[in-house]
Amino acid sequence: MSDLIRFGVSIENDLLESFDKMTAGRGYATRSEALRDLMRDALVQSRLEAKPDTEVLGSLTLIYDHHSSDLAEQMAERQHNHHDLVISVLHVHVNHDDCMEVIALRGTAHEITKLADALLSLKGVKHGKLFITLPSRAVSVRSGVRKKHQPHSHDKPVSSRAGR
Ligand code: NI
Repeated sequence: MSDLIRFGVSIENDLLESFDKMTAGRGYATRSEALRDLMRDALVQSRLEAKPDTEVLGSLTLIYDHHSSDLAEQMAERQHNHHDLVISVLHVHVNHDDCMEVIALRGTAHEITKLADALLSLKGVKHGKLFITLPSRAVSVRSGVRKKHQPHSHDKPVSSRAGR
């Protein structure tokens, strides 16, 4: 973890108020932590756009009607064809008709997006979304996380050894 740096940002008052309301609603303890998450997300997106062959982790969540023709078979077949990308699958029988599948994926951003698109576009899939993240420490580690028993105050500049 690198040292924390404080910097000033010029921002319209109403924009900041809206941002604070949103982040408080989402449970962020500080404005800084919310901002850091936005920055990490932008960095991940930017890196994936620049380098689609980047090794990533993904989770694809799908809701589908298992009565829909041969959807369940096609869903399984497409996953078997890319078993090297599929780490694990969680299947939930939601109700009489609907199934939810959460598929954990590992591979290049390009491969994973392609497989996700192939599954999401199957007829009978009602809704779904792919989430991609990087295993890289640089963007996934929360810089504010420290051991619980260590006394600390949020968002004060700390030395690289503080709390670790
Ligand atoms: Ni099911």
